[in-house]
Amino acid sequence: MMPKLKTGESSDSLFAALETNYRLSEAESVRFLLKNPAVDASLDQPIKSLAAQLIQGVRQKKAKSLSIEGFLQTHHLSSHEGLALMCLAEALLRIPDSVTKTQLIREKISSSDWNNDNQDPFFTKLTHFGLLTTSKLLNLGLKSNRVVATLTSLVRRFGEPVIRQIMAQAMKIMSQQFIMGETIDKALKRSVEFEHKGYRFSYDMLGEGARTQQDAERYQKAYQQAIDEIGSSLKNPNLSLFARPSLSVKLSALHPQYEWAQHRRVVQELIPVLVDLCRQAQQKGIGLTIDAEESERLILSLKIFEGVLNHPDLKDWNGLGLAVQAYQKRAPFVIDWLVALAERYQKRIPIRLVKGAYWDSEIKQTQERGLRDYAVYTQKVYSDASYLHCADKLLKAASWVYPQFATHNAYTVSAVYHLAQALGIQDYEFQRLQGMGETLYQQITEQDDFQIPCRIYAPVGAHKDLLSYLVRRLLENGANNSFVHQIHDSDYSVEELTLNPFEQAQKLKGESHPKIPLPKDLFLPSRLNSMGTDLSDEKTVNDLEQTFQKLTLPNIEIKIWDTRSLERCLDTAEQAFIKWSKTDVDHRAVCLERLAALFQQNQLYLMGILVKEGKKTIKDAVADQHLRA
Ligand code: FAD
Ligand code: 2OP
Repeated sequence: MMPKLKTGESSDSLFAALETNYRLSEAESVRFLLKNPAVDASLDQPIKSLAAQLIQGVRQKKAKSLSIEGFLQTHHLSSHEGLALMCLAEALLRIPDSVTKTQLIREKISSSDWNNDNQDPFFTKLTHFGLLTTSKLLNLGLKSNRVVATLTSLVRRFGEPVIRQIMAQAMKIMSQQFIMGETIDKALKRSVEFEHKGYRFSYDMLGEGARTQQDAERYQKAYQQAIDEIGSSLKNPNLSLFARPSLSVKLSALHPQYEWAQHRRVVQELIPVLVDLCRQAQQKGIGLTIDAEESERLILSLKIFEGVLNHPDLKDWNGLGLAVQAYQKRAPFVIDWLVALAERYQKRIPIRLVKGAYWDSEIKQTQERGLRDYAVYTQKVYSDASYLHCADKLLKAASWVYPQFATHNAYTVSAVYHLAQALGIQDYEFQRLQGMGETLYQQITEQDDFQIPCRIYAPVGAHKDLLSYLVRRLLENGANNSFVHQIHDSDYSVEELTLNPFEQAQKLKGESHPKIPLPKDLFLPSRLNSMGTDLSDEKTVNDLEQTFQKLTLPNIEIKIWDTRSLERCLDTAEQAFIKWSKTDVDHRAVCLERLAALFQQNQLYLMGILVKEGKKTIKDAVADQHLRA
């Protein structure tokens, strides 16, 4: 049943479901999905047989080596190795002159001992730079020596000339495969031949996570220029709005503090910026889609989305779309909320359904912060099942949404196709990323049997803005459980690639991935992890603010100490240390554990003092408290 909001009723009630399901246990989330499996018995076989046909079609056209899939596959590289090489290639792309670049590939790589800092400090520095940048972006916590070790072992395995060749290929992939063009003008020209074959485009101006207001303004200008040029390039005025090209926008590019802790300010400041971009897109006759980023930004993005959708200047415009990530446990509830919103404002909202590109960092950050549970599933089949559960919802609500299915997985494509057919829905599209899934969609979009339109997400920009996007693609292509990885590996049979995710989820009974424990259990059996504070949760932050307001600060008498008192104090500390250092190690461990437990028990009070008396932000108070515990 689709939720219904009467005109004028607040959408808060549906927001509540987003809060409840944010970090719901995996077992409960999966139980919910299995209540409505989407793929019923009558669709099972037809889905499998079309998926098998598509897989065979892709396998017959062996992956081009000049593609990220082909690259990792051809050279039998793991995702870490691919990452190491791409990091290095990316660092090379930053070198402005071609002479130094060539020298670096031809001479430095082949002649250097990669483990020896003294022999080739420049090259080592470069390698470390590449790794550290990537590691930082991904929050992988990799050490730079790991990349050096990876590269060294690659040289041993392949020999230097082959590595040189692979590097050259990696550079080509990055410059041609992922980027549609360095400027929007070049990208538009390159897209023409694909448009003739039935493809549509959504251009993405590379750049995200603005660090400063200046960055944000630069990205905003790039978006404005792109809208202008995409709109001016429109040739066929008869195309419906949903068939026209669009622009994909990342909100993190438009505000340097796009995070929940700053939500009041961000909502207030971002809505006008986005309304301006939408007004311009409306005038130019194209659409604008907001990309989905980290799960902790979801609520913020939805609030901004509603604020813009509801703006009087955009009243009659259906061009504002949103990406929804199926790997988030909240995904079905996001769709319920969006459908209700469309009904309330009498709009049709384009919704791009994706599985989600930030899985590794979602897991890592939740563990690092010691949060209650993950916002995303830990087993891939659950994300696959969630995707189809959400796809079914979108298709059933097709009068309020324009469904857009972004995937490179042949089973998912086939399932969506059959779900749509069973419901008699034809007004939807598929989407793929530039440089990925070409042979899959040649069979869906270019052939008479189907002719279902496919939109290509086309990154535009310079190499210096590519790194974070590139890393996500590498992780996606290199992961063992990823479809694009498995399809080119003959060890995976067609049967294995066409398993019904609901049946698999049923077998797993909602159990979490055995190697991904809850954050609190991360260090078991040796010790429990300290619990963190979820600053992306609206209720947690509101509760904290209210508690701190009511907090009475301890009345501490401030003494100005003279030198003698200080010396006495230092003596006492020294005596205490001598006693402590002679204490039995087991007893010391018990004391430290007791101290940690006391910090944990008194967390709110201690944080309150830091905020009220020390004037720290809640975020800094959490960090201080976490360090002590
Ligand atoms: P599959 O191989 O079937 O699925 C891989 C996906 O499964 C992973 O990406 C991850 O989401 C999930 N997964 C992997 N391992 C696990 C695990 N252990 N537990 C749970 N889940 C797991 N992504 C965004 O986040 N935001 C966007 O705005 C966005 N826009 C996109 C636009 C387009 C046109 C396309 C094609 C993709 C976009 N993506 C976006 C990227 C998208 O999320 C990935 O390409 C997609 O997840 C890959 O899914 P698949 O069905 O192609 O492949
Ligand atoms: C990403 O930037 C495609 O939006 C997706 O990874």
